[in-house]
Amino acid sequence: MTRVFSGVKPTGNLTLGNYLGAMQRWAAVDQHQADALFCVVDLHALTVEHDPARVRRLSRQAASLLLATGLDPELCTVFVQSHVDEHARLSYLLECVATDGEMRRMIQYREKAVRERERGGSVRLSLLTYPVLMAADILVYGTDEVPVGDDQAQHVELARDLAVRFNRRYGYTFVVPRATHPTVATRVMNLQDPASKMGKSEDVGPGIVYLLDEPDVVRKKVLRAVTDSGREVVYDREARPGLANLLEILAACTGGNPSELSGVYESYGALKKDTAEAVVEVLRPVQERHKALCADPGYVEEVLRDGAERARAMARPTVDAAYQAIGLLAAAADIEVTAQG
Ligand code: AMP
Ligand code: TRP
Repeated sequence: MTRVFSGVKPTGNLTLGNYLGAMQRWAAVDQHQADALFCVVDLHALTVEHDPARVRRLSRQAASLLLATGLDPELCTVFVQSHVDEHARLSYLLECVATDGEMRRMIQYREKAVRERERGGSVRLSLLTYPVLMAADILVYGTDEVPVGDDQAQHVELARDLAVRFNRRYGYTFVVPRATHPTVATRVMNLQDPASKMGKSEDVGPGIVYLLDEPDVVRKKVLRAVTDSGREVVYDREARPGLANLLEILAACTGGNPSELSGVYESYGALKKDTAEAVVEVLRPVQERHKALCADPGYVEEVLRDGAERARAMARPTVDAAYQAIGLLAAAADIEVTAQG
């Protein structure tokens, strides 16, 4: 059975971009068709300046939202990265395979490092090594497919490169994974600035739809979306990025096709109105389930505890194999177990 792994960082409130680019498929497709793990990757939230209490709150919220999107712990494994030590242990071995040069070429590192420096802050070493930890997240489970938005393609490519390099040097140890992207809305853009991604880091943003935005807030944000000059509704990502973004959002919410949808509308106003309603309808069940889960925090905790236990059992043999392959001496306790067993 195909093994699927993906994750979401608790660095801000989750957005419509997270949902359409990634989470929607996890619940609708991946958990049914694959042996799937979904993870709140909290260690990744420590790579930029952070507030410990906020990371804890957002981690709990991200876990509830994962379940609210329809992930069913009977069908897949939902857990928190820091509860499974194997990720960090494998990450160090992969750091011994990755090079300084390839880390510095990562687009997200370069962009975020510039932003941190502009703010007068310092760049944490973990921001540079972050893609190695991400590779460990993926490789430790023998993952075949990584369903992510388009912004993560380069990081998954690195995970592939590291798996191939490790296997070549030290013997076959890791499955070589590949990224999968949705057919539409693989990069949802900011409604006020269609040249930049709808990212979740800022706290308020008129161009960012959050999964927990009230229906009226969603409507207002979509109706005020920046569109391009011109009057006819055409689907052209290059020339009409604002319009294309709305068409993609509508298509992703209704299961349609952005080119076909463009033929249905005669005005921007009608398109915006239908897009707003489609987003409200997609978010409604997620928000309802989230509310119910918030009333039952014990349930979410139990899901995460069970999830971590299952994840650990899957991760441990891979890390053991990698330790051995790279030349580390088995610990005495392990030798005893082996000798007895
Ligand atoms: P992150 O918020 O960076 O932890 O992302 C979690 C998942 O959501 C990843 O698979 C991202 O690729 C995806 N994602 C985040 N923002 C967007 C966006 N604006 N459009 C499409 N996918 C996104
Ligand atoms: N880097 C991803 C992001 O910013 C989150 C992530 C961490 C991830 N580890 C992962 C995604 C492993 C997929 C698989 O969105």
